[in-house]
Amino acid sequence: MGALKDRVIIVTGATSGMGRAMAKTFAEEGASLVIAGRNRERGESLLAELQQIHPNSALVCGDIGTPDTNKELVETAVDRFGKLDTIVANAGVLGLGEVTSLSIESWHETLNTNLSSLFYLAKYALPHMLKNKFGIVLANASIAAFKAFPKHPAYCASKAAQVALIKQMAKDYGPLVRANAICPGPVDTPLIWDSAKAFEFPQEAVAQAAEATLVQRLGTPDDIAKLALFLLSENASFITGSTINIDGGIMVG
Ligand SMILES: NC(=O)c1ccc[n+]([C@@H]2O[C@H](COP(=O)([O-])OP(=O)(O)OC[C@H]3O[C@@H](n4cnc5c(N)ncnc54)[C@H](OP(=O)(O)O)[C@@H]3O)[C@@H](O)[C@H]2O)c1
Repeated sequence: MGALKDRVIIVTGATSGMGRAMAKTFAEEGASLVIAGRNRERGESLLAELQQIHPNSALVCGDIGTPDTNKELVETAVDRFGKLDTIVANAGVLGLGEVTSLSIESWHETLNTNLSSLFYLAKYALPHMLKNKFGIVLANASIAAFKAFPKHPAYCASKAAQVALIKQMAKDYGPLVRANAICPGPVDTPLIWDSAKAFEFPQEAVAQAAEATLVQRLGTPDDIAKLALFLLSENASFITGSTINIDGGIMVG
């Protein structure tokens, strides 16, 4: 307990799945949190839980694919908690469809939500990190950065670009700032069940994904939260510019 004491952390996509698990884990470790999502009801429910763990928690609701929401997140952190040292860009959508069937709107929505959001959040957050000579940027990417999935072109492209952007920031802003990407395999959240709609038999597709791991199960949001906690902690001070698969070994093939 206390690994993140005195830290101020923004977590996007905290209203569901892995983001929710990360926010709770970080609060339990003493961090002040600004959580984000579009769904106010789920956001307020998490906020109430977080405030039971740690009094310093705030919620910002809005579309993370726009500069304004990211600006508001950063301003909320600094205004409410006096500084900002860590951002976790976790929000994501799938934008299902092959290149020929995917609408241009869906392409842009997916790129904005998954990729531009990382750029916007980092753009507004980095000056505060540099001012205080300490910062951590963490992106929740995916093994889809390295592997094609049927009908996921916008998703795979956005995840690969997230990894490239993380490496770029690690280079440009080290040694003061560390930047890393987590690349989960199949994790049991609402998103994997949406992803499975790209397959003829969605239930079977999720079961097959679990069987394709070397540990014969889906990941849990807590599995990912534990890795994120490690990467945000001082124990990971030599890790930057890295992409870390957390996939039950599925990428071994
Ligand atoms: N589940 C998997 O198997 C898997 C595998 C690899 C990587 N990932 C990645 O892990 C991350 C978390 O996904 P998850 O599996 O935990 O999915 P999830 O349960 O569906 O959560 C997605 C989160 O993103 C938020 N979000 C989506 N679009 C948004 C927008 N335009 N503006 C603001 N917030 C938005 C959602 O908030 P609202 O609902 O409130 O809008 C929600 O909190 C994603 O980046 C995903 O690509 C997932």
